[in-house]
Amino acid sequence: MSQPRVSVIIPTYNEAENVPILLERLGRTLADIPHEIIVVDDNSPDGTWQVAEQISLNSANLRVIRRLNERGLSSAVVAGMSAAKGQCLAVMDSDLQHDEAALPEMIETVLAPDQKVELAIGSRGVAGGSYGDFSKGRRFMSWVAAAMARMMLPVNVKDPMSGFFVVRREVFVECADRINPLGFKILLEFIGRNPGIKIKEVGYSFRLREHGETKLSGSVIRNYIIALYDMRFGQYVSSTFMMYAFVGSTGVLVNLLGFALGEFLRLPRFTSGLPALDPLYLSVPFGIQLSIITNYFLNNYITFYESRHKGSALVKGLVLFQIISMVGIVIQWSVFQLLQTNGFLAGMLEENLRSYANNAIGIILATVGNYYLNLNVTWGLRGKPSA
Ligand code: GDD
Ligand code: MN
Repeated sequence: MSQPRVSVIIPTYNEAENVPILLERLGRTLADIPHEIIVVDDNSPDGTWQVAEQISLNSANLRVIRRLNERGLSSAVVAGMSAAKGQCLAVMDSDLQHDEAALPEMIETVLAPDQKVELAIGSRGVAGGSYGDFSKGRRFMSWVAAAMARMMLPVNVKDPMSGFFVVRREVFVECADRINPLGFKILLEFIGRNPGIKIKEVGYSFRLREHGETKLSGSVIRNYIIALYDMRFGQYVSSTFMMYAFVGSTGVLVNLLGFALGEFLRLPRFTSGLPALDPLYLSVPFGIQLSIITNYFLNNYITFYESRHKGSALVKGLVLFQIISMVGIVIQWSVFQLLQTNGFLAGMLEENLRSYANNAIGIILATVGNYYLNLNVTWGLRGKPSA
């Protein structure tokens, strides 16, 4: 077989009802374009791979990759692209939401030697495109996501969330080993990893899903933000640490509110026998404890979502987090005392300011120390399979 003009990569998960319809439509739409079709199925419980394999018996240009030990949209697309032979690589959903009628124009745009376009995006946001009957809520999400991408990425793309695009083979070959295979946003990877890539958007009308259901879940939003961040700043500070620091800053707020709540509830004040310390406010440890608990849960669902604790593991996790937080207090306090008594920054800063600076150094070291302890112990990322 000579090199096909296009390889159409179709990731599938539980799309047994949709796949035959899509393959039939693609066959008609691409009748005049030498093409191959690669279905990448992650061993769908509904047997999508079986349905596709059955069809491939009578169809020379259809291949099915059944992945047994992996799951995920982006990694499925990368697997399909790695096996593809075409001059350009197209990606489209298998659920009939993407209009295959736009494909020929997208393919010709990318392969036209005079246009130099390297990436054609099936777009709901340009002339000829529309969101169809997409619900208001999801349209709004799409709009927010697009606005964020515009702020973070060097290019202006109207529909950066699109899962429908055609890219030149060379672009993939060149950046394949830099693509982050986690997540949903494979298109963003091509845009973000190839500064200066020439893009054209081709309008199409988004259709509603008729069979099966969406695999897009709450974590998709989180993963999208991480993908954007990583592309822009990931090489400086890891996104995991940024999320951890963000959660930490909400902890400061909870800590303050906890103190206020404690005072409002008239939590007792104690006498310790050390007149200089009395009365001891119970509201302070109350605020600290509250923030440890909220920090644990936020970190569990935001920072370490991939290895989050569920069910009874939450108790063990909270205990570990609590202990490490105590360690953090000890680190901060010791660093502060050491720097203070050894005269660190003395002569450079006025005495009062110096104590603030030394305390800040203590806080930073404690945060970084706690981060690594939580990363490796509480949520022990090492050796865990990635989601
Ligand atoms: N192999 C494989 N593995 N395929 C998957 C997986 C997976 O883990 N998860 C989803 N798919 C397939 C689905 O079967 C479908 O063909 C396609 O990927 C998109 O999944 P949907 O569940 O239909 O996603 P969506 O319609 O909510 O999201 C689509 O539209 C978004 C725009 O709003 C996708 O195209 C997104 O990429 C796009 O951003
Ligand atoms: Mn869909």
